[in-house]
Amino acid sequence: MDLTHRPRRLRQDRVRGLVSETSLEPADLIAPVFVDATTDERMPIESMPGHDRVPIDEAVARVEEILETGVEAVMLFGIPESKDSEGTRAWAEDGVVQEALRRISAETDAYVITDVCLCEYTDHGHCGPLEEELRGEGRIAADGPACEPTTTVDNDATLAALEKIGVSHARAGADMVAPSGMMDGMVGVIRSALDDAGFEHVPIMSYAAKYESAFYGPFRDAADGAPSFGNRRHYQMDPANSREAMREVRLDAEQGADVMMVKPALAYLDIITNVRRKFDHPVAAYNVSGEYAMLHAAAEKGWLELADVALESLLSIKRAGADLIVTYFAEDVAQRL
Ligand code: PBG
Repeated sequence: MDLTHRPRRLRQDRVRGLVSETSLEPADLIAPVFVDATTDERMPIESMPGHDRVPIDEAVARVEEILETGVEAVMLFGIPESKDSEGTRAWAEDGVVQEALRRISAETDAYVITDVCLCEYTDHGHCGPLEEELRGEGRIAADGPACEPTTTVDNDATLAALEKIGVSHARAGADMVAPSGMMDGMVGVIRSALDDAGFEHVPIMSYAAKYESAFYGPFRDAADGAPSFGNRRHYQMDPANSREAMREVRLDAEQGADVMMVKPALAYLDIITNVRRKFDHPVAAYNVSGEYAMLHAAAEKGWLELADVALESLLSIKRAGADLIVTYFAEDVAQRL
């Protein structure tokens, strides 16, 4: 055959690396850590094999295990010792994340990012205090038919709480804060609160385009943050929407977000690519709990090779345009790299 074009020439072993377009490094990865104030021993998370909720006393040891694999950044989530309707333990000076942060920042070199949200801290499991809502006012029902009196998260009351949480995390040693509640205006109020408190150097990674996804299931068990009624569709984004994500990212850019996150990752690679093309900010992707759990479940059945599909998934997320990835595979993949 007289073929001019033989792309296979560049797939030979010694040249593959030279022409490889995408690389994945441990420094791109952020490992989630769950600190639990209700336990004094590590509690395995059943739906997320290899992950535990760790007591405050073990937070430093847990972070050190992660650093040993070459991963340099962690994302902290807290499970408080008690919950109330306002989520007040989220900004308590002796709260679970604040305690863990003080120790981790004093004793390790990890770059520590904190999730700034209320759903683990409210007794109803929503991402902010609730507002009574009356029929006929034209708002979306959270817990039933739209014609019944219902409740929804009070956006502006939540903003006041988010400011306090952000500042309390920075005070306790957070290197970066990551608001995840999808409240309108959250980035702007946290930015001003941080600046007023002298933390103008602390960046904000906004969960800018966070979808109302069924892939968060295992996390909600892990962090005990499932809504006790209704769902999050009146604040998280509709999976049907793509242009709306660009609008969310633009608003967060205007409010001073430093890093833009898309979440989940694998079912939303098109969104990652669009954000990458339209904005110059670093783009983060959250490879969420359900994306981790499904690969584990298939591998347990012997249907997939876990290490290979994990690596391929993360490479796909980077190829789509993400610069950094929050992933429960961080340690395993970093070790393999
Ligand atoms: C808190 C938060 C959630 C996740 C990260 N931050 C849960 C949610 O929105 O219900 C999910 C992460 C995952 O599934 O891995 N708002």
